[in-house]
Amino acid sequence: MNEVKSIKNICCIGAGYVGGPTMAVIAQKCPHINVHVVDLNEQRIDDWNDADLDKLPIYEPGLADVVAEARGRNLKFSTDVEKAIDEAELIFISVNTPTKTYGVGKGMAADLKFIELCARQIAQVAKNDKIIVEKSTLPVRTAEALRTILHSTGNGVKFDILSSPEFLAEGTAIRDLHKPDRFLIGGEQTERGEAAVQSLVDVYLNWVPRENIVTTRVWSSELSKLTANAFLAQRVSSINAISALCEKTGADVDEIARAIGKDSRIGAKFLKSSVGFGGSCFQKDILNLVYLCRHFNLPEVADYWEQVVMMNDYQKHRFSKNIIDSLFNTVSGKKIAFLGWAFKKDTNDTRETAAMYVADELLQDRAEIHVYDPKVTEEQIFADLEYLQTHRVGQYVEQGEVMSINEIRSLVTIHTDPYLAMHKAHATAILTEWDEFKTYDWEKVYNAMLKPAFIFDGRNIIDKDQLDTLGFEVYNIGKGK
Ligand SMILES: NC(=O)c1ccc[n+]([C@@H]2O[C@H](COP(=O)([O-])OP(=O)(O)OC[C@H]3O[C@@H](n4cnc5c(N)ncnc54)[C@H](O)[C@@H]3O)[C@@H](O)[C@H]2O)c1
Repeated sequence: MNEVKSIKNICCIGAGYVGGPTMAVIAQKCPHINVHVVDLNEQRIDDWNDADLDKLPIYEPGLADVVAEARGRNLKFSTDVEKAIDEAELIFISVNTPTKTYGVGKGMAADLKFIELCARQIAQVAKNDKIIVEKSTLPVRTAEALRTILHSTGNGVKFDILSSPEFLAEGTAIRDLHKPDRFLIGGEQTERGEAAVQSLVDVYLNWVPRENIVTTRVWSSELSKLTANAFLAQRVSSINAISALCEKTGADVDEIARAIGKDSRIGAKFLKSSVGFGGSCFQKDILNLVYLCRHFNLPEVADYWEQVVMMNDYQKHRFSKNIIDSLFNTVSGKKIAFLGWAFKKDTNDTRETAAMYVADELLQDRAEIHVYDPKVTEEQIFADLEYLQTHRVGQYVEQGEVMSINEIRSLVTIHTDPYLAMHKAHATAILTEWDEFKTYDWEKVYNAMLKPAFIFDGRNIIDKDQLDTLGFEVYNIGKGK
């Protein structure tokens, strides 16, 4: 093996949901390494540097404490991308890789323009050998494209490319980073490649036991991340498919999840039925996988995985349709309260949130929507709804008409008090499983809502018997009457 480089300076390009928390934890656990996180987005960097830790750009339990410990010691956030690249021996690329919204592969393939920009900038700036780590989720064989860009600069600098995809889940990111099931590193099977892998292993070893660090070839590592997300999303779509059958047959999806989860071959996790999965990763990564399969002329494999996304679209649509059907076939002019907007609890991330799709379908029928979410800003909610108007992709959304932002603003109100959101509402829909919703005074809510008072619990978090007793008309996912 070549000499293993000891890492003293790390650069991370991209200060988002992955780059920010991951680097904060590396800095916390490796006080001897300087960690410099850079981003093009000045506002985001200002927020990471804000003295008021409540203003960090990302809400994640435990994150503020980690940042407080390391920032100013060996953790730095800035927009000086070139300086950070120049100083580092090891560079993580954690930029976004959204689904392409234009051209070849539109609506399916990963958009790699941000990755390519990073590679070009690194190639331009680097004056000595560097280890480049793909942290973003990428299509298999992206490392090859990176290598081509990096090595075509011709200034003699050598780059070793590793893949180390991130498996953290938003909402539990700090816990996942502190005690990961595994960290994965893919590297080239050459002496140089093995030395580069060892350098990164040595960084992770500062807090992760060696048996939890898995090393593979680069292509396996890249494809493992897409596969992990496809399998996780598939579990959600599988239990959601069964929820529809439960509602028709009188079975109870939570009882089924409990029963099958006891089977050690199936396991209990990720069997919670809901209004549908959201988040920036599942849909985008499966569509990317589908695109890759089609590219490699594997249409049966592509169709198999695409069904996971189609099932998810159906689940969101089923929820909205059920609200409209229950409210006597129209929600026009009716006040519908939304509890929750984030794609899940304990995050302020709203990318691909089911709430946005449900809202859109109800707005098509001219409902008046009143939203309360403990962590999502008014600006973000309107930005999401506006985004959906310009990116109408998905089986059910495509059919909808495009609404102007003024129309949307005339129909949607954002609240900071949940009781006001539900006051005189025809129906309340629970879109996110925030714990605080369980603690509300539901009798007070019942008294303030119009009758019949409908509750559509898209997360099955409120005690149905209690709501029934109070007089609510309750709809739960996957619970037959
Ligand atoms: N969010 C998750 O839960 C999660 C989990 C695992 C993996 N991932 C993957 O990690 C990657 C990043 O995801 P994210 O959620 O952190 O995205 P994000 O959008 O929150 O953050 C990406 C950041 O990169 C910055 N950026 C883009 N191009 C840049 C450039 N050339 N120079 C400097 N900064 C640049 C953007 O301004 C943005 O702040 C994606 O590939 C995603 O699939 C995400």
